[in-house]
Amino acid sequence: MTDPNSLDKKLTEDTSGISKGNKKKQKKDDAWKPEGPRDPIAMLNSLPESKQQEIQRALHLFSLGPSLPKTLQQAKKHTYRFWETQPVPRLGDSIETHGPVVEGEASVRKEPYSLPQGFSWDILDLSSPTVLKELCTLLNENYMEEDDNTIKFDFSLEYLRWALQPPNWLAQWHCGVRVDINNKLVGFIAAVPADVRVYEMEKRMVQVKFLCVHKKLRLKRMTPVLIRELTRRVNQQGLFQAVYTAGIVLPTPLSSCRYWNRSLNLRKLTEVSYPGLRQTMNLQRAVKFNRLPEVTKTPGLRSMTKEDVAGLHSLLKAYFRKFHLSPILSLMEVEHWLLPRDNVIDTYVVEGDDGTLTDVVSFYGASFRVLNHPVHTGLRAAHLLYFASTAADPVELMEDTLVLAKSKGFDIFSALDVMDNKTFLEKLKFSINDTSLHYYLYNWMCPNVSPDKVGLVLPN
Ligand SMILES: CC(C)(COP(=O)(O)OP(=O)(O)OC[C@H]1O[C@@H](n2cnc3c(N)ncnc32)[C@H](O)[C@@H]1OP(=O)(O)O)[C@@H](O)C(=O)NCCC(=O)NCCS
Repeated sequence: MTDPNSLDKKLTEDTSGISKGNKKKQKKDDAWKPEGPRDPIAMLNSLPESKQQEIQRALHLFSLGPSLPKTLQQAKKHTYRFWETQPVPRLGDSIETHGPVVEGEASVRKEPYSLPQGFSWDILDLSSPTVLKELCTLLNENYMEEDDNTIKFDFSLEYLRWALQPPNWLAQWHCGVRVDINNKLVGFIAAVPADVRVYEMEKRMVQVKFLCVHKKLRLKRMTPVLIRELTRRVNQQGLFQAVYTAGIVLPTPLSSCRYWNRSLNLRKLTEVSYPGLRQTMNLQRAVKFNRLPEVTKTPGLRSMTKEDVAGLHSLLKAYFRKFHLSPILSLMEVEHWLLPRDNVIDTYVVEGDDGTLTDVVSFYGASFRVLNHPVHTGLRAAHLLYFASTAADPVELMEDTLVLAKSKGFDIFSALDVMDNKTFLEKLKFSINDTSLHYYLYNWMCPNVSPDKVGLVLPN
């Protein structure tokens, strides 16, 4: 791993740093040679940003970049140099037992893992607006696996505070890598505390999120160092398990789920060529087909308030029992994860005649910047977090949720096929997306879990 700037500089020096006298000699000696290939990175960097983007887009379109396995089939042919050294089940193993892959180590390494010269670890102090902004910039510029130059994440400071500072968060788990010469943040990985139930086992572990490496430092094996260092810091707190999700296949998915999308503003999604949008009819018919009612139908449906925390806590606790993988939320966590915050999280509850809460639905918002479009500059997606229904008609309640999300300006609504979501996905005209989301446990093995037995959703 090397600083891209110094790498580029070195490459430029290597090709142009020859002294004048030598140059002459070389010219003479090499006169017979055809001009050799120029360094591709230096060439790319010398182009204007717009040209670089164009090339990136073309590479993406032709899938020339090396990519990690997206399917089990591809995964079987891939050599996991790093993951094979980690306490995770091997791909292809059929697991019938429950327990850690390795027992917690008696002594945890005291010194941080070393980074290559020129880079340093930094605990990101997210209470500093400047640091939070730096993280926001890193993610907004780089938190995209494939850059097709159409849309980019647009995380807000409030969203990152919500996602990274739940009750009992620890600063040392907000793990950054900076370049020494200019202090630029070029890598990040985070963990937040989470109590999770896996089958009958209840365990305090961490949720790992926001793994990100600057685009110019990709494929240089920074990820294994980030993961090892975060693991060490988590181990230091006496925790040895983690839960995380990824779109790629790693050893070994606990569950593999699919995204489903429901257009709320089809015209706009079509105009910005929203990735994965499937259109089988002409736009006018499709807009009509996707039309939603103007108002909600479920009696007693209203926005969640702080007074609902205890009621929701009981409702969710009972609801989560039926899954093999679910969160165990404290009262403080229910408040943190569900209480509405503008442009971050929305939660609606249904209150019965006797005042008890019978249903809940929540969704979090992801914003995107639309690039290179003459009209549209932004796009908002709502992601279903929790949906627990005991009294209302689930399809009606979810349709109401779509109505509410649309009225709040969201352009698309997405949901995973986890929990009981399959009861409404097709009925409400969600269409299945090409991308999967795989769930993983670090240092824990247990039998595979089908999507409808997954009761845990991990916002980015
Ligand atoms: C994900 C990302 C950090 C990987 O960086 P990279 O430069 O491609 O990979 P590196 O050379 O640093 O490391 C490669 C190793 O990391 C592993 N890896 C890659 N992506 C991973 C992920 N999302 N989770 C866990 N491990 C991952 C690879 O499998 C490989 O290990 P292996 O030899 O065992 O197969 C980078 O592509 C990125 O920032 N992407 C945008 C954000 C993103 O998609 N984050 C992940 C969200 S789950």
